[in-house]
Amino acid sequence: MPRLLNLGSLCIDRVYQVDKIATAGETVSSKSFAIYPGGKGANQSLAAAKAGADVYHHGCLGEDGAWLIDVLCDGGVNADGVFVLLDGETGHAVIQVDEAGQNSIVIAGGTNRRISLDMMEKVVRSMQDDDWLLLQNEINDLETVLELSAKHRGHVAFNVAPVDGREQNYDLANVEILIVNEIEAGALSATSNPIESLEVLCARYPDTHVVLTEGADGLRYGLGSLRHQLPAFKVQAVDETAAGDAFIGYFMASVLRGDDMLEAIQHGSIAGAYAVTKPGAGVSIPTTSQFKEFKKTLS
Ligand code: RIB
Repeated sequence: MPRLLNLGSLCIDRVYQVDKIATAGETVSSKSFAIYPGGKGANQSLAAAKAGADVYHHGCLGEDGAWLIDVLCDGGVNADGVFVLLDGETGHAVIQVDEAGQNSIVIAGGTNRRISLDMMEKVVRSMQDDDWLLLQNEINDLETVLELSAKHRGHVAFNVAPVDGREQNYDLANVEILIVNEIEAGALSATSNPIESLEVLCARYPDTHVVLTEGADGLRYGLGSLRHQLPAFKVQAVDETAAGDAFIGYFMASVLRGDDMLEAIQHGSIAGAYAVTKPGAGVSIPTTSQFKEFKKTLS
């Protein structure tokens, strides 16, 4: 059975419920505050494991975030590859969520930016032919990870999120699945129109499956000259945080099962829609039974 090896971030999410997301120069009071497990990497691992995949998370924490290991294990993720750095502070996110469920996120890299070369090499070398390496843009030295994985067996999926300028230096030629939202696609393609972004990315990487998510506007999928556009499910938004991560986890689990791309995208979209209806990140990802029940409610 193929495995999903996720070399990715783990964060402590500090979530503030606000009437309106603060703009430049503004101070706003929050209506409530909560701490949740997060980090795009950990969220995606949890989602893939909940969807039935065999998931191995690799990453670094400080002692303050050691509880995230229990969260991963309780969610069915193998966390043997998660290390606690005694002199480090866990990555964290400050998240504002407004009445409409929209968010604004600031991340502090912390130990997510302290992945050693040795760790990168070990993860990549442990890959078998059918395994998938899943990456997000929240750890350090992704150029190196991409370079190492290009020389090794196995498949690579990369969610280039969030963009921070480093992505301009990445060689994505070996990435088999590229998952980006419209902002990330824009940064990679130097155009702000998602239709054009998809054209640029598919032309630049003709053998790469490109999944371009657009939130409530659905998503676009491209491979070479093939194109599909899929609408989003209409749901009552509570908190959009980690909707993309729920999508990716369920999508990847489906890919690992051997489903075709459109079926995998459908699974991802249902999980993403579910996550939007719940507060928090890692905790908003559906279990398989929640997924099945929720699916029945969608038209
Ligand atoms: O995708 C949502 C995640 O982004 C949050 O959990 C936060 O930690 C940031 O990494």
